[in-house]
Amino acid sequence: MSGRIREIAPEELPQLDALYGVGHDTALRARLEREMRSGKRKMYVWQENNEPLGGMSLQKMGKGEMRLSFLVVREDKQGRGIGGTLVDEACRLSRAAGCTALTLEVRLGNLRAMRLYLKKGFREEKKGLLDRAQMRLLL
Ligand SMILES: CC(C)(COP(=O)(O)OP(=O)(O)OC[C@H]1O[C@@H](n2cnc3c(N)ncnc32)[C@H](O)[C@@H]1OP(=O)(O)O)[C@@H](O)C(=O)NCCC(=O)NCCS
Repeated sequence: MSGRIREIAPEELPQLDALYGVGHDTALRARLEREMRSGKRKMYVWQENNEPLGGMSLQKMGKGEMRLSFLVVREDKQGRGIGGTLVDEACRLSRAAGCTALTLEVRLGNLRAMRLYLKKGFREEKKGLLDRAQMRLLL
């Protein structure tokens, strides 16, 4: 697997709607753009030959916590280790930013994602809203 991770600029978001699953939710896209411009949120793509195949978002939450969200790998490229590499990168970037924990929320029925997070050492800390679990990895 040869590729690299790159932080994206807010202007790139419209071309990446499909990848991040933002779809036609223009209100969500506007919020993401606003948060990126204010420095509250950083978004990244995993790219191979300039083609974005995966992505994620990181938000610094305070108390040494970094929040991982929008983790995604293009469907036809799943199962090749890209998701795992993105989580590893999220850990590295969080440590570099001085954080001591990486947290996320996942749907309990999302077994693929759940397996990945457990393998990386995340532990369920509490039930989230409805069918979601909050998970935490100490860095
Ligand atoms: C979750 C996701 C990001 C994983 O990305 P990926 O590139 O497929 O992950 P990897 O190839 O690094 O695989 C890591 C682990 O995921 C799990 N996994 C990957 N493909 C799987 C499959 N086909 N079936 C079951 N588990 C699978 C395994 O635990 C795997 O570990 P292994 O290598 O020991 O088998 C990807 O499936 C995805 O984009 N899903 C849709 C969006 C989503 O649910 N995001 C998470 C929101 S919380």
